[in-house]
Amino acid sequence: MHNLYAFTGVDSGDWRVLSVDPIRGEPLGAVRAVDVAPAQGIAPARPGSWTLYGQMSNLRYAARTELAALRARQEPLGRPLALRAAMIPIKKSAAWWNLAQDERRAIFEELSHHTAIGLEYLPAVARQLYHSRDLGEPFDFITWFEYAPDDAEAFERLLARLRATSEWSFVEREVDVRLERRT
Ligand code: HEM
Repeated sequence: MHNLYAFTGVDSGDWRVLSVDPIRGEPLGAVRAVDVAPAQGIAPARPGSWTLYGQMSNLRYAARTELAALRARQEPLGRPLALRAAMIPIKKSAAWWNLAQDERRAIFEELSHHTAIGLEYLPAVARQLYHSRDLGEPFDFITWFEYAPDDAEAFERLLARLRATSEWSFVEREVDVRLERRT
């Protein structure tokens, strides 16, 4: 499968788990580390652990001017200074998915200012969105963010702002996994 990635709870790996907080809905089991790797297909999870799958995909909502602003400011994953990461799988409600594309875009940006808010935290935070819904996964998205320890507080403020938006009223499951890069 093209651009498929597996996020697996492991005992030891490049990203050591600092915390696993269920923000809304069913939690994820505690694990010691998370391994992120390209995958060929979806395999059954190992007993006692979990694996979440997501696919890098095209953009759905970003308008041309937003795309230009993102490209001007965003940085790649894997920067040596980015010793912290957040992996936040999210599932949205049936009510969200029953909306039309233009209605979702209006909630996402015109009402909730997701991109406008997010842009304020670039380039400190590097990000990658993975889509899971069409894979029949328990979450619709896996979001991944990397930042320096000095930017951890700014990242908390960003999350608080996004979680207060109308967009987030459609989030029915969210687990916040924080990680530290093994040095
Ligand atoms: C770091 C700054 C951020 C920026 C610049 C940003 C920007 C964006 C953009 C442009 C999209 C739309 C992609 C498209 O057109 O399909 C998006 C989608 C998304 N973002 Fe963010 N974002 C940021 C932070 C966050 C955070 C902290 C979360 C929370 C976990 C988050 C969760 C999501 C989700 C779940 C989607 C998919 C929404 C959907 O398709 O319904 N983002 N983000």
